[in-house]
Amino acid sequence: MKILSIETSCDESGIAIIETTDNSDVHVLSNQLSSQAALHAEYGGVFPTLAKREHARTLVPLMLQALTEAKMLTPTSQKPPQEIIGSLMKLLEREQELFVHLTMLFAQYARPDIDAIAVTYGPGLEPALWVGVNFAKALSIVWNIPIVAVNHMEGHIYATLYTEKEKNRYVKSPVTLPLVALLISGGHTELLRSDTLGTYTLLGATRDDAVGEAFDKTARLLGLPYPGGPEVSRLAVSARDENLDQPFVLPRPMISSQDLAFSFSGLKTAVLRLTQELHTISETNKKQIAREIEDAITEVLVTKTKRALEETGARTLIVSGGVSANTTIVSGLRTMLAQQLPDVTLAVSPKILATDNALMIAFAGISYAERKQYVSIEALRANGNASLSSIV
Ligand code: KG4
Ligand code: ZN
Repeated sequence: MKILSIETSCDESGIAIIETTDNSDVHVLSNQLSSQAALHAEYGGVFPTLAKREHARTLVPLMLQALTEAKMLTPTSQKPPQEIIGSLMKLLEREQELFVHLTMLFAQYARPDIDAIAVTYGPGLEPALWVGVNFAKALSIVWNIPIVAVNHMEGHIYATLYTEKEKNRYVKSPVTLPLVALLISGGHTELLRSDTLGTYTLLGATRDDAVGEAFDKTARLLGLPYPGGPEVSRLAVSARDENLDQPFVLPRPMISSQDLAFSFSGLKTAVLRLTQELHTISETNKKQIAREIEDAITEVLVTKTKRALEETGARTLIVSGGVSANTTIVSGLRTMLAQQLPDVTLAVSPKILATDNALMIAFAGISYAERKQYVSIEALRANGNASLSSIV
């Protein structure tokens, strides 16, 4: 089975094409990604209108690259019938540039040998999600390929389940259930439980800022560029390497609450207060504060995750999302498991699959495509607040 996947939930446009014989062995025919992060940098966060426009501009060129790499780009002289172009025009009313690009694509190239399209329908920025969803619909209408709708967070979970055995060959590792997933990104901070892949229960989530947002916002207060997570992490590493003392103390929000909820907005306020008190922040101060931010976040995540594992008796801990690229957080979790829960296996996404990408959407889409759980063009909608725990 060959699957084409599409990801546009935030500021990364992604298109991947995979081939799988059974769902544990995946050959990646192409995995294309175009990041808009640099464009959003001046806003200090993702700017939805800009994200939408960039996805619309990027998807067809990415698709051409993906089809070329997968050796699926075959010229044709057969143009789609006029009534199909008419329905595309209606579908892409608000994405004129995408419509123009797509009609050119359909006029020049034949239907590729693809069995299903997997597209992210949510959660994420709704205007951005709609571009991917409408793009998938257009491909489906013209090429008559069925669609499976994938939850972005399930994509992050699946990113941890596959290991690259040789270049572009991924194998799915067996997972011992139940599992607890700690999903940490710019938009989410969630602990989920799963007894069967595909069915999830929300154990706890952030009440305000997501952990990635806490990194990004505190980084901004320190004058660091967006996205702030990798920058804070880099400075924290220097603070440890240089053995700097730790004069600043930040709160560990909700660390003692007897639940699995998080709150990170207080951290931003505390850093703001600190920067105001200091008047000028030296490079050394920045490193010291960055380390304290990273330590505070790590302690909270480790404490709550441990509680979730103990309460559920989980056998596997999955850690995924952009923030799972943070080595201090992951080694904090690893140490906690080794010392206190040695029977729990840790599954972390490889760095290239930690941040948003289309390959994880293809991985998550496989079982839906194999069961032919297709979604109709009419029913498929982008949903910025889509919840994983409602998937059954
Ligand atoms: O999953 P992702 O690519 O996009 C969302 O769905 O949000 O996550 C992006 C987030 C950003 O907030 C970024 O600052 C954070 O992941 N991030 C990190 C690191 N690398 C990326 N945070 C902390 N440490 C890192 N090394
Ligand atoms: Zn994400």
